[in-house]
Amino acid sequence: MKKTILTAVASAATLVALTATPAVQAAETGDVDPTRMVDAFEATNGKFEGYRRSGAKGICAVGEFVGSPEGRALSSASVFSGSPIPVIVRFSVGGANPKAADNSKGQRNMALQFNLPGGETWQMGNISAPVFGASSPVQLLGRVESLRPDPATKAADPAKVKAFVDANPEVLLQGKYFASQPVPASFGSVNYWGVHAFGFVNAKGETQFGKWIFEPVGGVAGLSDDEAKARGATFLFDELRQRAQAGKLAFNFNLELAQAGDKIDSATVPLPEGRKKLMLGMLKVTSVAPDAGGDCLNITFNPMVLPKGVKGSADPMLAARAAPYGVSLGRRLTEGSKQ
Ligand code: HEM
Repeated sequence: MKKTILTAVASAATLVALTATPAVQAAETGDVDPTRMVDAFEATNGKFEGYRRSGAKGICAVGEFVGSPEGRALSSASVFSGSPIPVIVRFSVGGANPKAADNSKGQRNMALQFNLPGGETWQMGNISAPVFGASSPVQLLGRVESLRPDPATKAADPAKVKAFVDANPEVLLQGKYFASQPVPASFGSVNYWGVHAFGFVNAKGETQFGKWIFEPVGGVAGLSDDEAKARGATFLFDELRQRAQAGKLAFNFNLELAQAGDKIDSATVPLPEGRKKLMLGMLKVTSVAPDAGGDCLNITFNPMVLPKGVKGSADPMLAARAAPYGVSLGRRLTEGSKQ
């Protein structure tokens, strides 16, 4: 089932890439002012003072990561040394609403900060879909602006939404993926994708690009519609605490290896099915915050904060994240951080 959906996502994305309209091509270049981007998020998704402008409903946790021999062979980064590396973790529900319902379909996030020897850090923000909802910052801005509610009707203008989607069909791929998946039973029972390609550089200076997935060691589990209804809108945090206490909150850090010719500069195009996958190590989440505090609260998980031995790809969405995350962090710190 999963394979079929991923193939559908991949082939739909390939089709989009092959048949790109001029509007899509235009959307593939250009920067967006980060203040304008965050303003657009607030205008469309609502403004919730003190909260992250995306992934607002979240919880801190801590854990440790142990790298594997495959990880060490692929990258000289100290994270793969095999010694336990402390990790700050934040799990969240997608979107700007701090009261988002846990029993709804859609995005879950796992953000990580590896605290490496010598004061080095590695930050990442991973999502529960193999693709993002836009392939460039201009396209993301256009999509968010097209969804802005009209003050009179309090709803987005359907004609504007349709016109944007018709010109930028790949913005629908992520939503189609979520619609095909059940409500996650736990933050600990869903896959988290890095979505962008990253380069892993070994001791000889050779680079292997790939896309990673954190896969739950205990397997993926979703809820039926009836179960989701019965669970209610707030069950994820308590379930997570119990799972960590039982020692059942762990993820394999797997890397799908790109081959020559694979598209590695798009957050809306996964690698082709069947690429070789290596297990680079295991993340164990050992303890979950008892309340809304914790070490993750005032971090912005910036995916350009990389250790020596790992480098970014040319995906325009990757470099575009740092600045708006900084704007969102600045606003929530000034307002008084909450989650
Ligand atoms: C230009 C494109 C993007 C913009 C403007 C954007 C915007 C934001 C903002 C404003 C935040 C809150 C930051 C904070 O207050 O610390 C955020 C969080 C997040 N974003 Fe993005 N995002 C973008 C692309 C992506 C992509 C491609 C992914 C896919 C992996 C992603 C995954 C996440 C995750 C997981 C979080 C929550 C992190 C946490 O727990 O702190 N974002 N995003």
